[in-house]
Amino acid sequence: MIRYGDGVGMYRTHLFGSPTIITCFPDVNKYVFQSEETFFLDWPRVELMGQNSIVAVHGPAHVRLRRYVIGVINRPDSLRHIAQVVQPRMIAALKSWAQKGRIKAYDEAKKVTFENIGKLFASLEPGPLLDTIDDLFTGLIKGIRAQPFNIPGSACHHARQCRKKLDAIFWMELEKKKKNQKEVSTNDLMDGLMQIKDDEGNKLGDQEVIDNIVSLVVAGYASTSLASMWAIYYLAKFPNVLQKLREENMAIRKTKEGDFITSEDVSKMKYTNKVVEETIRMANIAAFIFRTATKDAEYKGYIIPKGWQVIVWVRYLHTNSEYFDDPMCFNPNRWNDPARPGTYQVFGGGSRICAGNMLVRIQLAVFLHHLSTAYEWKLLNPNAEMVYLPHPTPIDRVDVSFKRIKK
Ligand code: HEM
Repeated sequence: MIRYGDGVGMYRTHLFGSPTIITCFPDVNKYVFQSEETFFLDWPRVELMGQNSIVAVHGPAHVRLRRYVIGVINRPDSLRHIAQVVQPRMIAALKSWAQKGRIKAYDEAKKVTFENIGKLFASLEPGPLLDTIDDLFTGLIKGIRAQPFNIPGSACHHARQCRKKLDAIFWMELEKKKKNQKEVSTNDLMDGLMQIKDDEGNKLGDQEVIDNIVSLVVAGYASTSLASMWAIYYLAKFPNVLQKLREENMAIRKTKEGDFITSEDVSKMKYTNKVVEETIRMANIAAFIFRTATKDAEYKGYIIPKGWQVIVWVRYLHTNSEYFDDPMCFNPNRWNDPARPGTYQVFGGGSRICAGNMLVRIQLAVFLHHLSTAYEWKLLNPNAEMVYLPHPTPIDRVDVSFKRIKK
């Protein structure tokens, strides 16, 4: 951009092995997100997610699948249920962090996120099976961006083996559920996907249920862990924000009999919700969004050639002072007013906009409640360097001292 000027908000380069157009202004991003047939979502190693996954299908098949998935994870009663289910593990995890006294926030956030994924998605309790599933997902995720060499010893080969084993485990869980359906309703996402019907009464097929459970774990695991880690990081760096967050949450705490809060409480926690939004903006978990041009496309006199990779660089928006005042300052009050249209695209745009955005928001708000009302912590390396791939993360994975607040 320095070389060619701002122009229309796109430039060409060569990235990740392909000739590439980078887009960054709201108008051109919108053009890319909304021209779904021209700018195709083309996941690498899509077979690892499954051919029936929401990210693998296009056009009417995608609209159909998305309706099912959104129906199961974003309905108000699902969110109410999710808020309840995640709290016991969050409370237990925070207690154990204080007992340890020093933690790597990213590693610990991953553990508790995965325990909650196990419970929410398939009613799996912590234990050897869940640990195995966690290892298998780690192997699968590494294969998604690896070189496509399917030879023993390669990340790609290992990822395929992991996917086969995950299939076997989820098939077994699915069969168990079918047998028990009349006796026990576990009310997890797998049950939801097995039972939800469209307007004509049609249900998803078994392999569709499994492929979408796998995709939801891939989409929700690192993203939720990273968001929790960044909340811990920024609240340590901005004690004035933590103070206001604590005040709001202490006030809610006083109105409750037990430890749990509800999704109705969360909707009243105005400042907390702004902290959630600001964390997600600053975290830039999906810094770029990938598409492939399926034909030559013209935008304001420039040609985007067929076959080129198109990367929507959303981080550019979220760190730009034209759209966000003093953008590197963690300032939840900026959310007193909504962002200008097209300038806040943490969850993408168009028909592929993140299906789990409400789920991650409610989980973060509940986490902030338990974190801020009972604990204090300090960054041990406040100036730690950042690494940017695959996601922006402090190099020390947010090493903190952590303790319970004295009453
Ligand atoms: C802060 C956390 C998260 C961020 C920043 C995020 C970001 C995104 C982005 C940018 C996309 C669009 C990708 C594209 O257009 O190519 C996306 C899609 C998606 N996300 Fe998220 N996500 C988050 C959490 C979650 C969670 C918790 C879930 C579910 C458990 C989830 C499920 C999905 C699914 C299923 C899609 C694909 C939607 C489709 O293709 O129709 N995400 N996410």
